[in-house]
Amino acid sequence: MKIGILTSGGDCQALNAAMYGLVKGLYKKSKNKVEIYGIKDGYTGLIEGNSAKMNLSDFEYILKQGGTILGSSRQPFKKINDEYKNGKTKVGCMVENYKGMGLDCLVILGGNGSHKTANLLSEKGLHIITLPKTIDNDIFGTDMTFGFSSAIDRATEYMDNLKSTAVSHNRIFIVEVMGNKAGWLTINAGIATGADVILIPEIPYDIKKVKDHINKKFSQGKRGIIVAAAEGILTLEENKLSKKAFIEKRQKEEISDSAQNLEKQLKDQMDAEVRTSVIGHIQRGGNPSAYDRILASRLGVEAAKLICKKQFGYMMAIQNGKINKCLLKDIAGKKKIIDTEDEILNQAEMLDICLGR
Ligand code: F6P
Repeated sequence: MKIGILTSGGDCQALNAAMYGLVKGLYKKSKNKVEIYGIKDGYTGLIEGNSAKMNLSDFEYILKQGGTILGSSRQPFKKINDEYKNGKTKVGCMVENYKGMGLDCLVILGGNGSHKTANLLSEKGLHIITLPKTIDNDIFGTDMTFGFSSAIDRATEYMDNLKSTAVSHNRIFIVEVMGNKAGWLTINAGIATGADVILIPEIPYDIKKVKDHINKKFSQGKRGIIVAAAEGILTLEENKLSKKAFIEKRQKEEISDSAQNLEKQLKDQMDAEVRTSVIGHIQRGGNPSAYDRILASRLGVEAAKLICKKQFGYMMAIQNGKINKCLLKDIAGKKKIIDTEDEILNQAEMLDICLGR
């Protein structure tokens, strides 16, 4: 049995742990009758035919290692049918290289965009199994993605550390957390640090509500305010604009991102000093949390079992604590964002956190 593995899209913690679980499971279940091929730098390696045969020992010590030993890249789905070389499309090259390598299955560790490509490859007849990775936790069909728990830890530690300086200077700190369309990371890290305000892309915010809440906190004697703000937040007014009008507005106001937009509004309208701190890619870096190591290993092992049963076209998922499989065609192209009725939002509000609504 010949199995290819690739890691695609933005990296996250526990990609290596998932490969460790997968490869160990494959060796065990097939009684060592398996050959593993690592494809370099995500779909780019599959397009270019860049892969190397690997041994069990290559995966033995990577359980707790951050990043991905295979490398990763972004290959946007909307460009996957573009010509790559000699009249061949990128997807055409991927199919050709899969066949040329004589693979029995390709295991893809990826996020939302990668799942669209994985589904396309599956529709073209390739044997595909996927594992859900991303710090954003926005993959439809799974309760959790691996990478998410570690990123919460990273963002929590960062905000905890900001708190002392925010208190000393009695400043308002806006902390930009990753997540363009989904606020899972922001809401969880915000609750974990006892943030005063949490703004997420799913709830366009009313700046007046934010201001009033901060003023209330100051009047109660609180020093140092933390506003956890996801990358993709919009004001109520911005949310009503077309994409074109929104871009024009931001250009006219010389605003490059949402945190800067929020900072400008707070600075204009509040007496306290305002500072913005961007956590950035550190949220995806470093060793995975224990939870992520366990989740990723379990997903990997169950993927191995499915492959040995010759069942393909699935994403492995955790649902109510159990590892299950979802049909790729049922989940590809869908995004799991926070429902505005989700209980976690009400629980945050009960903790006297303002969500800008
Ligand atoms: O992988 C998800 C993510 O970390 C998002 O949270 C973030 O918006 C984006 O990737 C950043 O992408 P890049 O690494 O390409 O800057």
